[in-house]
Amino acid sequence: MQETREEEGRGRGPQASGKSKWESEPRPQHISYSIASTKHSMASQQQRLEAWEYHPSDEDPRLEHKFSPNRPIPSDRLEDLGVLNWKIDVDADLQNNPVLEKIKLSRGYKSWDTVTVAPGQLDNYEEKIKQFFQEHLHPYDESRLILDGSGYWDIRGFDSQWIRFRVERGDMIVLPPGMYHRFTLDTNNYIKAMLLFTETPTRIDVMRPFGDDLQVRKDYISSVLRNGPPNNNGINPL
Ligand SMILES: [Fe+2]
Repeated sequence: MQETREEEGRGRGPQASGKSKWESEPRPQHISYSIASTKHSMASQQQRLEAWEYHPSDEDPRLEHKFSPNRPIPSDRLEDLGVLNWKIDVDADLQNNPVLEKIKLSRGYKSWDTVTVAPGQLDNYEEKIKQFFQEHLHPYDESRLILDGSGYWDIRGFDSQWIRFRVERGDMIVLPPGMYHRFTLDTNNYIKAMLLFTETPTRIDVMRPFGDDLQVRKDYISSVLRNGPPNNNGINPL
């Protein structure tokens, strides 16, 4: 889920409080994404996401797509794949939220926008939700704080199966650069999220398989394998 931003709610971090200052500052270096170090540094604040193996079918993607019986995915598996998540009190003043501020500082987020995905509230809604559900990766992390509503992210697991996890109000998630993923609303058809960026907001989607040969993809796979996936059985993550 990305982009088509609302003008209101757009913000910039403390290092970029003035427009001229922001524009005159050197662009920050790309922040390398070390799964292991990030896990250890902020693990104590992470929350558990409900995740399960996605049951593929032609049914509406907005349904749960659980096997019967369900095949839950342990949170450790998500962490080993590089997914980070926290719970943020979005009812309180977000400008002074200590957890959010710590995340922004530690991960170098300097700008943010909000987006609402719902019928009638997003230009080209039908086209956009189809686009969100196409398998893709980014050369940067995908960082989202859910301000309201709910939805699903699907990510690729070690043996190529889709893993689905649900997000709702107050969830903050980060998907690492180079991870194949997709997003869909659930049947409530509504989500509002804050999008956080280390640099000027941009959008670079690389569809599968065009991302396979990118260095960011190779770095992601190396990082996951270096982190010691528990169940890969010698199979590279896809
Ligand atoms: Fe994405």
